[in-house]
Amino acid sequence: MGKVIVWLLVLALAPITWAGDTGDRERVERSRELSQQLQQQLGAELMAAMQAQGPVHAIDVCNVEAPGIAASLSTAGLVDVGRTAIRYRNPRNAPTAEQVAVMESFAEQIKQDSSVVPERLVTLENGEQHYMRAIVMQPQCLACHGQSVAEPIKQAIAEKYPNDQATGFEVGDLRGAFLIKWLSEE
Ligand code: HEC
Repeated sequence: MGKVIVWLLVLALAPITWAGDTGDRERVERSRELSQQLQQQLGAELMAAMQAQGPVHAIDVCNVEAPGIAASLSTAGLVDVGRTAIRYRNPRNAPTAEQVAVMESFAEQIKQDSSVVPERLVTLENGEQHYMRAIVMQPQCLACHGQSVAEPIKQAIAEKYPNDQATGFEVGDLRGAFLIKWLSEE
């Protein structure tokens, strides 16, 4: 019961903190939009590839398209759009210690209430602002990130990502986070 009250308080106070700073609130909204665009475009490509040629080919699509779509939503020197995860597949998506801490708190929030999609805007010492929004495992992710990945898919993943850590997840688990890095003022 005590925990529930604490969470209600957190949820009630969170928007007030942002409302205090209009600049931050706008940035959160802009970041959320960019992360949703990445999510939608990637999801559409993935579904199309899975249906057309199956998961093994879809790995190629992820491998090429995921960084490509992220890059197309980024603006050099201004904003960098991407993804990260505690247990990552592509080492280029490796998180910093601070990002790990944010994702650990996201996982905790999802455990308390699976209907929330946690997000956070962090201001770094150098003035950069990093927005993160939780990525939660869906049924269509299991083929490549689940607990029992089929042998040909496993092999295709191992070829491209010999140090893959991104399997063993269940639906509803935190898989990672969208990471929108604001490198300077807009
Ligand atoms: C066809 C196989 C496949 C499916 C299905 C798939 N992924 Fe992935 N996923 C990959 C590959 C390959 C990468 C590495 C992409 C890269 O090199 O940037 C990846 C990377 C990621 C990353 C970036 C962090 C990291 O580990 O490098 C996240 C987050 C992620 N996937 C989440 C999901 C979610 C959520 C779903 C379901 C909606 C999903 N994936 C479905 C193959 C897949």
